Amino acid sequence: MSGHELGLDEGERATFHPSGPLRGRLIPPADKSISHRAAIIGAIADGPTRVSNYLDSDDTRSTLSAVAGLGAMVNPEPLNAMPEEFTIEGVGPSGPRGLGRIDVGNAGTLMRLLPGWLAGCDGGLWRMNGDASIRKRPVDRIADPLRLMGAEIEVTGDRFPPIRIDGHRLHGIEYELPVASAQVKSCLLLAGLNAEGPTTVIEPIATRDHTEVMLAAAGADIDREPGRVTIRSGASLRLDQVEVPADISSAAFFLVAASIVPGSEVVIDRCGVNPTRTGVVDILKRMGAQIEIEPLDGTEGEPIGRITVRSAPLTGTRVEGAEIPLAIDELPLIALAACFAEGETIIADAEELKAKESDRIAVVVGALAGFGANIEARDDGMRIVGSGGLHGGKVDSHGDHRIAMLGAIAGIASREGVTVENMDAAAVSYPTFQQDLARLLG
Ligand code: S3P
Repeated sequence: MSGHELGLDEGERATFHPSGPLRGRLIPPADKSISHRAAIIGAIADGPTRVSNYLDSDDTRSTLSAVAGLGAMVNPEPLNAMPEEFTIEGVGPSGPRGLGRIDVGNAGTLMRLLPGWLAGCDGGLWRMNGDASIRKRPVDRIADPLRLMGAEIEVTGDRFPPIRIDGHRLHGIEYELPVASAQVKSCLLLAGLNAEGPTTVIEPIATRDHTEVMLAAAGADIDREPGRVTIRSGASLRLDQVEVPADISSAAFFLVAASIVPGSEVVIDRCGVNPTRTGVVDILKRMGAQIEIEPLDGTEGEPIGRITVRSAPLTGTRVEGAEIPLAIDELPLIALAACFAEGETIIADAEELKAKESDRIAVVVGALAGFGANIEARDDGMRIVGSGGLHGGKVDSHGDHRIAMLGAIAGIASREGVTVENMDAAAVSYPTFQQDLARLLG
């Protein structure tokens, strides 16, 4: 079925009819994680940073507004369209404007990273809040270790935003992450920039390392060894230039779509392939997917590559342990792929899915079961038995961008189609998703 028959409605509801194959070349939107970090570390730097290919999405606009509110001038200012390149004039590690209310919208990464910087800025006072989904996402995971560093932070109901931060000079600590979280690690590393003595974060299981990569590029006093990173304050931070690569988490929708829709072949070009993010590729390949990555010349320590994916028969697999953080945002897509695979797939050790933009165990299981999947929720993940695809149905995104796009891909691969309520949530990370999907469907 051709792209114009996708049945995309204006507004919040969209129907995705059985379609395919997907064919063509795609450069996905810029990486959301790296964009957040470019804005935040650019603001902390001691001079200007030129940022190109910054993600134009709701979440990353929230971050730019936040740092602008803290005094970091962004030039030219993003108005309707995001400029291809802009400069952030950093205010220095202890230089943010000292009073303000910060609205993070739906951006969990902003909510968890920024307090690390602000908590150590002596004399400042900030309140941070966000939308209804943010107010259900835990921030005690950052507040607890920041308090061990001497921070004064108040959270709501011991656990949630809104939060209030009274800036103080901090002292370094050694902290072992109780949950594998790049956001918590990053928060503490930023706090370490305003702390007396070294700050060490120990991570028993590796998580995405974009913060370490960017801080090192900026000249921070940072030492990395497997499972352990230490930062010291005092070094001058100069980031100069960041070119944000394309987002493998956005590409993942098409990796799965092209794998399960027969006859597909898609080339995803200039995509970020940092090994702390490519778990989805490894898992899909283990399931039998035909995916090849050709390395390209990288940008700023972040490897990029050309990924080719062709449809292939899949078999079930087990995803657990150290693989979980490397594919955390793509686990819903693995569950979708599993519905089209032969045999059983188990996703375990993934309790963290409950703390995402929605409870992604309950919401994914509910959605895929509604489409006809043989799937059950478990406390730490889910079990799926492939039953020859999906008939289709309806899903509400619950304001979760990745659930909206999951519904769309399920729809084109299904026998009867899927209607997604609140499809516009996709704009949180991928505003052009529907256009890109329609184009690849020809
Ligand atoms: C992110 C880390 C992950 C991920 C989120 C973005 C980041 O969260 O799920 O979408 O940019 O650091 P956790 O650190 O909570 O696992």
